[in-house]
Amino acid sequence: MVRVTFLTADGRSVAAEGEAGQALLEVGQNAGLPLEGTCEGQMACSTCHVIVSPEWFDRLPDASDDEEDMLDLAAGVTRTSRLSCQVLLEAGLDGLEVRLPAEARDMQPR
Ligand code: FES
Repeated sequence: MVRVTFLTADGRSVAAEGEAGQALLEVGQNAGLPLEGTCEGQMACSTCHVIVSPEWFDRLPDASDDEEDMLDLAAGVTRTSRLSCQVLLEAGLDGLEVRLPAEARDMQPR
């Protein structure tokens, strides 16, 4: 099991668990978090954007050029932003901490 903590835009901390090889996006969705992942990992939407804690960011494999290009279009991007569909869990990431961007869908006026 790989443990991941998600910090929500409204300040909640949600503990989740996944298996090695599973995408971070799926772990967040399984935990009931508002990660849309509209394109299901095809790097065509950026609705799976998360902000990785700085102390964890450098431990992740680098983003591909395609991921970087898509992140450029995401709202609220920071230096440690990633597309969660592109981050695969591995044993060394046990304890990973990521934040959901404030621009999540639930914050939009209806
Ligand atoms: Fe669309 Fe990640 S799910 S880019």
